[in-house]
This record gives sequence, C-alpha cells and structure tokens, in this order.
Amino acid sequence: MTMAENLLKGKKGIIFGALNDQSIAWKTALQAHSQGAELVLTNAPVAMRMGEIHELAKQVGDAPVVPADATSVEDLTNLFEQAMEHFGGQVDFVLHSIGMSPNVRKGKHYTDINYNWLSTTLDVSAISLHKTLAVAKKMDAISEWGSVVALTYIAAQRIFPDYGDMADAKSLLESITRSFGYHYGVAKKVRINTVSQSPTITTAGSGVKGFDEFIAYSESMSPLGNADGQACADYCVSLFSDLTRFVTMQNLFHDGGFSNTGVSQEVIGKFGPEEA
Ligand SMILES: NC(=O)c1ccc[n+]([C@@H]2O[C@H](COP(=O)([O-])OP(=O)(O)OC[C@H]3O[C@@H](n4cnc5c(N)ncnc54)[C@H](O)[C@@H]3O)[C@@H](O)[C@H]2O)c1
Repeated sequence: MTMAENLLKGKKGIIFGALNDQSIAWKTALQAHSQGAELVLTNAPVAMRMGEIHELAKQVGDAPVVPADATSVEDLTNLFEQAMEHFGGQVDFVLHSIGMSPNVRKGKHYTDINYNWLSTTLDVSAISLHKTLAVAKKMDAISEWGSVVALTYIAAQRIFPDYGDMADAKSLLESITRSFGYHYGVAKKVRINTVSQSPTITTAGSGVKGFDEFIAYSESMSPLGNADGQACADYCVSLFSDLTRFVTMQNLFHDGGFSNTGVSQEVIGKFGPEEA
C-alpha cells in the first residue's frame, strides 16, 4: 500500500490522551508527526505518573508535554496558552481522545449507577470536549479550516449492555460535536467531527466487561474486520488534513462496516443446526 506523504506539513496540533503505546492518541501522534505535523502532547496529571508520554514526546520531535485535566477550564486555558506560545501562533488541529467512567470501572450495573460518578463520566468523556472548544474559541486558538476530532463508539446509537453510562457520555459527545460544530463553523470555519471506532485493545477498552468476547463478536460482524488503532490514527490524520475540509458536524464510522451490517453469514452460521 502506498501512503500519501506530508499530509500535515506545516500544521500544528494538540493531542490529548496518549497514555501508553496502545492508546489511539499515541498512534495518532506518531502518524501525524510522520506526516509533517508539529505537536504538543497533553494528558491528565495523574496519567503522567508512569512517564511514558515523555518517551512519545521524544519520538515526535521533542514535543512539549503540558499536563491538563480536561475537565478543568483553568488547565485547558493554560494548555492553549502554552501551545500557542510554543507554535508562535494558532493550532490547526486537536485530537480529543479521552474517556473514563467510574461506574463502568467499578462494575456498577447501568440500572443502578452512582449519580456522582455519572457526573464524572459525562464531565470527563463529553463535557471536556465542550470546555476544550469553548476555551479555544474564546482565545481564538484554532486557525480557520482547523480540524477537531473526538473519538466515540457506536453505543451512542445502539445499546451495548456492558458499555454502561459511557453510552450516554458518547451520545452527549456526538451532540456537542454537532452543536459546537455549527457555532465554530459559522464563526471561524473550524470543523468538528467524531470518529466512531471499532473496539480496540487499549487501557480504556479493556475496562469494559467481556471485552475479548466482544472484540471477537465485532470482528465477525464487520465485513472488513475490526479497524485497529493504527488505522484509526490514519483516519484521524486524513481528517486533520486539507483533503477533508468540508467535512464537519459528522459522526464518522471507522468500523470495517459493522454499523451497516444487520447480521453476517458468519454469525448466522453459529445458530444453524449442528452439522453432522
Ligand atoms: N478502545 C476502544 O475500544 C475504543 C472504541 C471506540 C472509541 N474509543 C475512544 O477512544 C478514546 C481513547 O481511548 P483509548 O482506547 O485509546 O484508551 P486510553 O486508555 O489509552 O485513552 C484514554 C485516555 O483518556 C485520558 N483521560 C482520562 N481522564 C482524563 C481527564 N480528566 N483529563 C484528560 N485526559 C483524561 C486517559 O489518561 C487516557 O490517556 C476514548 O474516547 C475512547 O472512549 C475507544
């Protein structure tokens, strides 16, 4: 396969959420850098304790690492200030790759959730996108035709029982993408989309109960198979590039065809009479 080159030459971006080398954000940072982008990396202060993000920073041209809790407007303001100072101007793209639910982590059933934890789920996984965009817009921190991508999952549209209150967070995330995408588009031609990714083996993914079985089910329901983290990184880079500049306010499925498959022959086959 031949790959386009220098798709992001001269572009400057902020990447949230690279926890370790399995993270979709980690792979996106590497691919964005190899396509010519300059980066600033960020994650929650607690997520930096293992220090792995600094290894990534070295691999992407000694990118600055700015800690920010994405639920804190103060931290986000500092992040954009630091990024604009480092770049000597505006940011061209932002990856929001953040998700966490205390209810899912602690195995709370969806019908019996802790509501304080639900607030945390929504704040971390969805409202953080609103806060990021609101801070950026007030500071005029994103360039015209700039691109913001947030990662989501199809549980926003359909019930996947073990995804718990993260489903509600993803629905809100996709709604914020539409609403803010309108306002930021009109005001500054900034575009905002979500990428709805196949289940992927990462730290956040593995927090969902029965994840391995689930990955196998999804694989057998996707004509192309599950999209992996690297392919997701490639797709995000295409959305940061100028080749997709009229795409905004969309939820884009990156799932090997899963979302449009009612049932696959492979899955039907499991319900047929046993062959002798
Ligand atoms: N892995 C999957 O199966 C899958 C599928 C579809 C969508 N997604 C989404 O992709 C995104 C990235 O997840 P991942 O699978 O790469 O897992 P990951 O665990 O590597 O990334 C999640 C990140 O969120 C960060 N985070 C949590 N709380 C934060 C806070 N308060 N402030 C800032 N950052 C915070 C974590 O530190 C971590 O880096 C998430 O939005 C996730 O829901 C994942």
